[in-house]
Amino acid sequence: MTTEIHSLESYKEEYRKSVTDPEAFWKKEAETFTWFKPFETVCDWNFDEPNIKWFGGGKTNITYNCLDRHIETRGDQTAILWEPNNPDDEVKKYTYKELLDEVCKASNMLKSLGIQKGDRVVFYMPMVPELAIGVLACARIGAVHSVVFAGFSAQALADRVDDAQAKMIICSDYNNRGKKSIPVKQVVDEAMDIGCNSVDTVIVHKNTGFEINWSDDTDQSWHENMAKQSSVCEAEPMDSEDLLFILYTSGSTGKPKGVVHTCGGYMVYTCYSFKNVFQYKKGDIYWCTADIGWITGHSYIVYGPLLAGATTIMFEGVPTFPDAGRFWDICQKHKVTQFYTAPTAIRALMAKGDEWPAKYDLSSIKVLGSVGEPINEEAWHWYDKHIGKGNAPIVDTWWQTETGGIMITPLPGITDTKPTYASYPMPGIQAILVDKDGYELTENNVEGLLCIKYPWPSMIRTTYGDHARCKQVYFSTFKGMYFTGDGARRDENGRIRVIGRVDDVINVSGHRMGTAEVENAINEHPNVVESAVVGYPHDIKGQGIYAYVITQDKTTNDDFRREILAVVTKEIGPIAKPDKIQFVSDLPKTRSGKIMRRILRKIASKDTGNLGDISTLLNPDAVQDVIDNALV
Ligand code: WTA
Repeated sequence: MTTEIHSLESYKEEYRKSVTDPEAFWKKEAETFTWFKPFETVCDWNFDEPNIKWFGGGKTNITYNCLDRHIETRGDQTAILWEPNNPDDEVKKYTYKELLDEVCKASNMLKSLGIQKGDRVVFYMPMVPELAIGVLACARIGAVHSVVFAGFSAQALADRVDDAQAKMIICSDYNNRGKKSIPVKQVVDEAMDIGCNSVDTVIVHKNTGFEINWSDDTDQSWHENMAKQSSVCEAEPMDSEDLLFILYTSGSTGKPKGVVHTCGGYMVYTCYSFKNVFQYKKGDIYWCTADIGWITGHSYIVYGPLLAGATTIMFEGVPTFPDAGRFWDICQKHKVTQFYTAPTAIRALMAKGDEWPAKYDLSSIKVLGSVGEPINEEAWHWYDKHIGKGNAPIVDTWWQTETGGIMITPLPGITDTKPTYASYPMPGIQAILVDKDGYELTENNVEGLLCIKYPWPSMIRTTYGDHARCKQVYFSTFKGMYFTGDGARRDENGRIRVIGRVDDVINVSGHRMGTAEVENAINEHPNVVESAVVGYPHDIKGQGIYAYVITQDKTTNDDFRREILAVVTKEIGPIAKPDKIQFVSDLPKTRSGKIMRRILRKIASKDTGNLGDISTLLNPDAVQDVIDNALV
């Protein structure tokens, strides 16, 4: 069994061992899993190329470890507990045995429709059990899944499908979200029209039964195909470094990149981190509110919990339907013991008033988690007081799509907590702060750039189809280190607080967005000459999107604003819509023609007191003009 940390002494001891002899440390953890063929090496690595291999020579299958391995000990225990969008609809429960049967059927379905080991399958689905089943089915037969959050537009979906050269898309007919039914299959049809040439099959899961267009050439029914399948399918032996999944995420330049995770290391680390960060005990009911379209859903709704033999809740709906008590209602109804959500949700529910959580019995909750963005002090205290009632430690977990698992976090009941601090690195995680020249800052009470100086099992291996980009983005800023893109401070006791991105990535409601991506979308409007997008502090979303736009014909009215929003929705999706659009006649630029985002960020944040030296700009007058017309 994965090592469980239960005391401060054992955390310190584990950490020490993990740093003094990382290979021995991870060998021991990895050996707690079932391998079809034992691994021969623990870690071969080189951060320059980068080339990272964990558990070389080993063969395993993550679904064997998620499912088959548990059948004897907890076959009748609920693995997935599904809570529907509408609280009056029926809850669905899958025991480990039932989940294994469904995953095997889905595996056979994929095979019968021509999917083979190594093929890419894109998911564009709501939070229904079939999404988890489909993802696990891919992993079982060695197909590479790539889940695209179902709020992305047809264009964004097509871009991802094309980049992954996926052979298949699996979608639903409609999504239920609160009062709305969202026509998902229609988005897939549009994506197929504008791209997706590699796709030969679209499997449609009937979620609502509403009418949809059907193409006999490509479309297949999930239900009809599943009904034909046997519930036996051996798990494919996978090399440790075979691809498990691709997940697209935004960077500071260009299109989103496909972060690649592989089978062996991801398995070991997600299980190890899940067990220890949430202190999961048999009988606990764990709930992470994320969507499986993001890394948090991959690692801490599906893989981590199932590897650990936990009961994991999947929630189809939204926090405010039918009312702002929904999260707390679910906690009460299912006696949730660990609750994991994002600061943006906490802030939104905090704004609805203390009376909502007060109506529910939340006494089952033992651990609260936060993820995705820095949690501000006020939200931290509200969460602690009104949800945890002062009895449930908050684990403020810092990590990234690229890290695969939680990297820096308090351990509940073991290390102390301090509002806004993600605190201490997990065993095996050599997190350091460096200055802008890459020198490690070894003292406490410092601020610097967050880097990791030694590999860990679930780290990014490459960016799909473009290894040079992986090297350039993560391993070139500082030699011999993985650079996170985040700035952080370390307090007098060595606790780490992650402050936020230092690159052109913004974090809107816990969703990562590249400013360049949003600009490219805005620039698609024929009347836009140029645009610059920056983040600014937003009470609920953490950061809002502020766009400065130069127009061709000087139009500056709200109709035009709406047109821009429509273009962004079409190119990326509603999550990327700017909160504010300021029309400007010029953008401040350096002599070499680079937009001075630093200045634009300050203006958007109402922080114009000290703009620094602007006299060296190409067009210093532009600054005053932007300030005079700022929407703040
Ligand atoms: C930010 C989400 C502060 C950070 C798992 C990181 C955080 C980016 C925290 C990754 C936290 C995530 N405190 N900032 N606890 N967690 N972040 O890839 O800027 O969607 O680089 O992964 O979110 O976002 P991603």
